[in-house]
Amino acid sequence: MSLTASGRRLALAGRSPEIDWRILTGNVPAWPTPPPWRPLDWSKEADHYPERGGSARLLEALCVRERAQGTDIGPESMIVTNGGYDALSLAARHLYDRGVRRAVCAGPILGTIARSLRQAGLEVVALDWDPFLADHGWMDMALGPEDLVYVNTPHNPTGACLPDSASRALLADRQRRGFRLVFDLIYDAFTFDPAAGGSPLAFVDDWHEVYAFNSFSKNYGAPGLRIGWLMAEPSATAELAVRLEAERIAVSAGAQERAADLCAYGNGPLVEAVRTGREVLLAWDSKHDLGLSRTQGGTQAWADLGIGDAESFADRLMAEDRIVLTTGANYFPVRPRHVRLPLGLPPDDLEEALHLITAARRRSSG
Ligand SMILES: Cc1ncc(COP(=O)(O)O)c(C=O)c1O
Repeated sequence: MSLTASGRRLALAGRSPEIDWRILTGNVPAWPTPPPWRPLDWSKEADHYPERGGSARLLEALCVRERAQGTDIGPESMIVTNGGYDALSLAARHLYDRGVRRAVCAGPILGTIARSLRQAGLEVVALDWDPFLADHGWMDMALGPEDLVYVNTPHNPTGACLPDSASRALLADRQRRGFRLVFDLIYDAFTFDPAAGGSPLAFVDDWHEVYAFNSFSKNYGAPGLRIGWLMAEPSATAELAVRLEAERIAVSAGAQERAADLCAYGNGPLVEAVRTGREVLLAWDSKHDLGLSRTQGGTQAWADLGIGDAESFADRLMAEDRIVLTTGANYFPVRPRHVRLPLGLPPDDLEEALHLITAARRRSSG
């Protein structure tokens, strides 16, 4: 298995630790000040196996979070997972066992997500977000029970959000034609455009063959916790919990305790930090035309800087300015002209990086 393009760049940077690299590859937002963090508690976290499906305390906290977004859900429709990727992989393999053979995705999607879907045995088709979703292009496709439709909203990388009308139409079409729906909502706290849709789960009346997952990685800036959650109808979550237990026993009790604390504490300062980063970037874009995509939500922006091949630009940026970027090579299908810019950096760091990137772009085109 090979490294992704940004994985290769990070490995190269790691070989020169004496250099003060500016690492812009991730899109995990940074808390302005860290949230409260409890000390370890041996008897709560270490001397027993955690509950199958997730701790009652965390599941209840997650239900409160989901209900605040208009989702009608109880703990029987949810399991705690080892992060978002784990939830996706569990759902994809569960669906393969239920006869699904193709994943039709609103793209581009992360290359690692395409890889995970293929490893589950699925053929992966990724169609551009706008024609596929905003213009309801999925309706013209022959879709049925052998298909899952994967929608990540807000969308990594473009920042597009699924309009409410499309959520309703997708769910109604799912009931008519029997395809399965998988919503990836791991950026759902970061919706900045008032015209953007809310959670598609608010429109779910019947969870049959509807799956959705979320995670603490971006929404709470805590990818190291490795806590996610997967939602589905109760008969499916019961099977998924057994699958998780058979494969990796459980999810860390300590991480679940801290996730429940974080959920109760909320993520307001983190969301505001990303909102500020977005404003910095949009102001920069209005002066320097960064070729941004829609950026309605999410923790990153997607830019066609007009520099042609983004891979060689990123290589030069690394050699000359010590900046490590994620490019369109990390996505499926590959987008050779695009780079991804993180919105969740401290504003001064973001401005400084934008100065260097804009200067490098000028050098490239001059
Ligand atoms: C669209 C999308 N889905 C899922 C994930 C997986 O997140 P996690 O770190 O919770 O496994 C990511 C991570 O970047 C992502 O961007």
